[in-house]
Amino acid sequence: MPCVIDFGSLNMDLSIACERIPQAGETVPGHDFLINPGGKGANQAVAASRLGAQVFLIGAVGNDVFGKQLVEMLPAAGVDKSEVRILDDISSGLAMITRTDSDNRIILNAGANHALGLDEVSESLSRVAHPADIFVTQLECGYRATLAALRKAHDQGLVTLFNPAPAMSLPDSIWDSVDMVCVNETECQTITGILPTDKATIKQGLSWFIKQGVPTAIITLGDKGAALMQGEIYLYQPALEVKVEDTTGAGDTFIGALAVMVAEHKDREFTLRWASCAAALTTTKVGAQRSIPTRAEVDEFYSHIG
Ligand code: RIB
Repeated sequence: MPCVIDFGSLNMDLSIACERIPQAGETVPGHDFLINPGGKGANQAVAASRLGAQVFLIGAVGNDVFGKQLVEMLPAAGVDKSEVRILDDISSGLAMITRTDSDNRIILNAGANHALGLDEVSESLSRVAHPADIFVTQLECGYRATLAALRKAHDQGLVTLFNPAPAMSLPDSIWDSVDMVCVNETECQTITGILPTDKATIKQGLSWFIKQGVPTAIITLGDKGAALMQGEIYLYQPALEVKVEDTTGAGDTFIGALAVMVAEHKDREFTLRWASCAAALTTTKVGAQRSIPTRAEVDEFYSHIG
């Protein structure tokens, strides 16, 4: 089976719960403070591994306490850490997360996540990648390195899955290097100018990517579910009912699940529903990597909801 190769971020998440997000200048009481491994790249890599793929993570951390912990957690989750560099004189990525029952807000200090350039990523790809492997990336590493890595991976015959998060303006020229794109509502708005709020605008947002030449486009819609477009085909998956504790990492689990489904050549209906199951289960626990379910848990949940 093809491997999943993720070029992405590793962050230590400092996460605190509160009843509501404070206004400017306001202090609100917090509780259940948690320090736990995150970062979109590492979360997606851990998700793909727990959900059944062989996974390599390409990334970087600082030579500090958090960096060592972030790297040590990877093999425990089944992720190959051989392409994660530990760099001197730079701090590890850090995310300050404020979470409520239904949402979260994140402030990022990129640190070592921005240290790798195309040369390092290319070296890693030449060591671990083979045609038809799945290449996954986001926008928490260096912008130029990420776009160049997408092109390189696509040129090498890998299947590319791009999660442009956090969203930023992107050149039109990137889209012919992308086989599958997955965004949430706000990322869709930043990139396409279309905020998906109902069926018409969801379809418009998806169509924007299809017109750019991306074969498969997906929008995750939080508590409204997810939608997929492939050519003219449109699929909608309503959100699955679970008791939400923390949404951190749910989108990353969805991406990891997509990568596994692509590696296993599953059909689009199954892929969208199964990835939604994986993401829903993630929201039932607090934290990022620690809340990602196993393959058996997702299969069981899928079989219950029918
Ligand atoms: O997508 C969730 C992740 O975003 C968190 O783990 C945090 O590290 C930020 O990168």
